[in-house]
Amino acid sequence: MDKFVIRGGTPLLGTVRISGAKNAALPCMAAALLTDDTVVLENIPQVRDIETTRRLLSAMGAEVELGYGRAHHRTTIQAGKLSTPEASYELVKTMRASTLVLGPLVARCGRARVSLPGGCAIGARPIDLHIKGLERLGAKITQDHGYVEASAKRLRGAEIVFDKITVTGTEDLLMAATLAEGDTVMQNCAREPEVADLADLLNKMGAKIEGAGTSTIRIRGVSKLRGARHRIIPDRIEAGTFITAAALTGGDVKITGCDPSHLDAVLQKLHEAGVKTTHSQDSIRVMGDKPLRAADMNTEEYPGFPTDMQAQYMVVATQAEGTSIITENIFENRFMHALELVRMGAHIKMEGRRAIVRGRTPLGAAAVLASDLRASASLVLAALVADGETIIDRVYHIDRGYEHIEEKLKSVGAEIRRIGEMFPKKAAAPAKA
Ligand code: UD1
Repeated sequence: MDKFVIRGGTPLLGTVRISGAKNAALPCMAAALLTDDTVVLENIPQVRDIETTRRLLSAMGAEVELGYGRAHHRTTIQAGKLSTPEASYELVKTMRASTLVLGPLVARCGRARVSLPGGCAIGARPIDLHIKGLERLGAKITQDHGYVEASAKRLRGAEIVFDKITVTGTEDLLMAATLAEGDTVMQNCAREPEVADLADLLNKMGAKIEGAGTSTIRIRGVSKLRGARHRIIPDRIEAGTFITAAALTGGDVKITGCDPSHLDAVLQKLHEAGVKTTHSQDSIRVMGDKPLRAADMNTEEYPGFPTDMQAQYMVVATQAEGTSIITENIFENRFMHALELVRMGAHIKMEGRRAIVRGRTPLGAAAVLASDLRASASLVLAALVADGETIIDRVYHIDRGYEHIEEKLKSVGAEIRRIGEMFPKKAAAPAKA
């Protein structure tokens, strides 16, 4: 298992280019299942979740070509014949977003068999709303042996009101409804830019969708979709992570290839915390020359402050003057990074969904363990400001969603290196007498 070794204390200086959004790329790859034509996706990030999705789609019989060389961010998918409309536990357990294939498969093939995701490091994460929505669209659902099976000759349009806002739930049902007979109106939808990006692709494929990016989406069902070419939007969470890295280290970094309009809540909160930024249409410059000050933060659905930036913001709070209260409203168990930050010297008290962070605490290097994707990012940030050399274990979590993070950090002056397992299993076993 790879580890990162990071020596803190260097201000980051220079330019970092942001990759395509993993959370937009995943549903767009699943959308390719809706047609037997070729779908070409540009700006696909080279991260592990994309490779998992390639394996998932290939296992169903789709041809997925991940680009290489100069075309390494292009992916071509052709789902001409789908022999096995199934997502196995082996794949779903490593990536919960695999459930995104449920809607497209039942819409295209008339049936789907997808493993239930089960528990996950950041809380229960059920998919009941995906299932309820598909039932509203006329699918027959059964569950056994840890799998959910959906079948329908042809889905029919319906009115769906989500009990709770769900991002992948909105995307799953949006895809399903494109091929349903008649009109679908979905209310209380997720408004994330990734939902709007998916709708953009689907409309290029011939779907009739209006309102994506707002809480009410209207879909006029069509009988067939065609191939399309689409460029994935930039990753707002990767951009937010680099903005906090620059601010924390007192650096000066230009973040290019991003969309500042997707980062309003993050930028507003960071301004409140004393971070200075300027931006153009597709870049943000962070000037970390001012002291940080405490600012309370609540995670919310988009356009609120993203839960995927909560762990990174917590590191900012440890360095700001004063006490910040961070409230996590989306997932019930998303403070695992806090315990590791405490091991590095942070003062954080947890009370249910709230974390009370006392600021201006010097962090010291330690050996720490990454527990999920965004938690790992926060440990990298903490290590960049810690005194000494931090070793972060289980960085495969970070490889799920950040493209070459160590290369990008190195290019702006961070002292970071990746090492393989220090004690390979065989060598670590006690020698036989
Ligand atoms: C997506 C993002 C993830 C982000 C999250 C919240 C992708 C691939 N992942 O995850 O990075 O952290 O949005 O912004 O886009 N819920 C239910 N029933 C359901 C579905 C969800 O109760 O059927 C609950 C969840 O437990 C959670 C909340 O709704 O408490 C939001 O979850 P959801 O928006 O579905 O998260 P994901 O789509 O899995």
